[in-house]
Order: sequence, then C-alpha cells, then structure tokens
Amino acid sequence: MQPSSLRNKRSTASAPAKVILFGEHAVVYNKLALVCAIDKRVYVTVEPLQNDTIEIFSDQYNALEKYSLKELDIFRKGDRYRYIRKAISLFFKDFDIKSGLRINIKSEIPPASGLGSSASVSVATILAMMDLFDIKIDYRKVAELAYKTELSVQGIASRTDTAIATYGGVLFINGDEFEMLTAEFPLIVAHTGKEKSTKLMVEKVRSLRERYPNIVDRIIDAIGEITKSARDKILLRDYNLGELMNINQSLLRALGVSNERIDEMIKIARKCSAEGAKITGAGGGGCIIAYTRKNIEEVYRGLSRVSNFVIRTNISNSGARIESGDE
Ligand code: PMV
Repeated sequence: MQPSSLRNKRSTASAPAKVILFGEHAVVYNKLALVCAIDKRVYVTVEPLQNDTIEIFSDQYNALEKYSLKELDIFRKGDRYRYIRKAISLFFKDFDIKSGLRINIKSEIPPASGLGSSASVSVATILAMMDLFDIKIDYRKVAELAYKTELSVQGIASRTDTAIATYGGVLFINGDEFEMLTAEFPLIVAHTGKEKSTKLMVEKVRSLRERYPNIVDRIIDAIGEITKSARDKILLRDYNLGELMNINQSLLRALGVSNERIDEMIKIARKCSAEGAKITGAGGGGCIIAYTRKNIEEVYRGLSRVSNFVIRTNISNSGARIESGDE
C-alpha cells in the first residue's frame, strides 16, 4: 500500500488502562483473574509520511525518536518505544504494508505501575493503523496482534492486559479464555511512587514456590478460590467485594510481593473506611486499589496525603475506540 493514497489522512485511537481486581500472580500458575478497565486512557495518533521513517513522540517521555523501517525490530537495552515499534512491525507484516509513519502518544497512564500502559499503547496503535489504512476494524485481530507484540517484547505474556485494553469492562480470565462480565462500582487507584518490575516480582514468587511448594501452592489455590467467589458475587450483582480483596491482599503479602510502603497505603485506605484495599498487578511498587462505595471522598483524601497520583475512577465499559479519522 502506498502512503500517497493516504495523503491528508490521520487517525487517532484510544485504549483504557486496567486494574487487576483479583488473582494476580496466581494467574501465572493457571488460576483465574478478574480485571477491569478504568477511565484513564492512552491516545495514539498515526499519520503517513512520504518516506521510510517512523517518528514517535510521547508526551510522557517528551522525546521524539526516529527509526527507519529496517530498525523497527532492532532493540537495544533501555530502548524507548519498544512496544509501539513491535506493534507496527507485526501489523505491517500481517497486512503487507510498508509506510513511513508519524506517531503521537498522549497518555494518562503512568508507565510500569500495573495499569497496563504498554498493552494500551499497543492496542491503540494497532487500531489507529487499521483505521488509517482502511482495513475493516476487527477487534479480535487487534487483541491478537497486541498480544503477539507483548509476547515478543517481553518473552512471556498473558492475554489479560491486551484483552482488557481491547474490550474494556470487566473480564474474568481463565487461561486463554475470557468471559465478559458487567459491573458498576467506583474504585480509587493510588500510586506508591515507585515503578515496579513485573518480571522481578514473578521471579520472587517462583523462587518462594521452589523453596516451599506445598505452602505456596495452597496460597495460589486460595487466591484462585477468591477470584471465583468474586466472579460469582458479581454475576449476582452482589458488590460486597471488600472482604475478598482484603483476604487477597493478605495472601499477596504472604507471597512476598507487598512491602512497607504498600502496607502503609493499604492501612491508610482501610483507616479511612475503605471496604477493601490491595495491590493491583505485580506489587513491589506500582499502584494499589481501594474499594469503597460510600466513603470515596474520605479514602481519596487520605491517600492523597501520601501519594502524588490518586484517581477516582469507574469501570470503563469503553474498550479501544477510534477517536477521529481524516483531517
Ligand atoms: O503489574 P502488571 O500489570 O504487569 O501485572 C502483573 C500480573 C502478574 O500476575 C503478576 C503477572 C502476569 O503476567 O499475569
């Protein structure tokens, strides 16, 4: 496909951030997880360039990087924009496209915080390119390409983040399968101020499990049971989920992925009458979620005293979407 046919065209797509309500870490051992999209998004605008350059700018890094088409798959340590470059490369291969592109990313999602920013960027980029190149929008294809992007950048990935960034709402993850649930409740998300490494935390749990397999397997099984109970409650529209979150947090602590800072923030949330509070994602840093249907203001204010990034959010039923097309 030649970019000349796309002159004056530009497309913007967006995808939501996510939080894990229940089941992180256990999901690595084929247990269940419950995730939901929240109303923070990443916006990606793509426009064609009449040369072989891929220009990428993100407001979060405030940095413009340029790559030739040949460099799309060449990663060096500390390289920026790996997800977006891989997403473009896989998309071009799949649809037999070669074109220079200018990409502009606007993100409301802090990176490396357990909010799924890399999946959201990949999903929004792929969707925007589908629109730009007049390819029939196919969300299954978007989720598939975004998953392959994560897999090849990280070496290991579950479909959780890319599925929720594509479809939004609440997803009950069961291996490669997922079930869409509907639910409506507010959440408070607060950042510990420290970026986390999912890889490190997953390794930490793996190592604990190697040393104490019988104990750790029971913890993992129990987390799986919590997630199942939460799903059953949600299906019955019973949103008394706080207690289950607190049990889940205690088990995450037992797995060694909490720390003093996280414990302190969780204590504050509960002191401010949150029904439940827990890590969301890998732990060791990143974000916590606090669950309260009645004391939102109190919990928000309490956490704001100790964190620079606190948001009140609802579940976002809007998954990835096209924001605008031609200029
Ligand atoms: O912090 P995040 O959003 O990368 O979530 C990690 C969740 C884990 O269960 C710890 C790992 C995984 O791949 O599911």
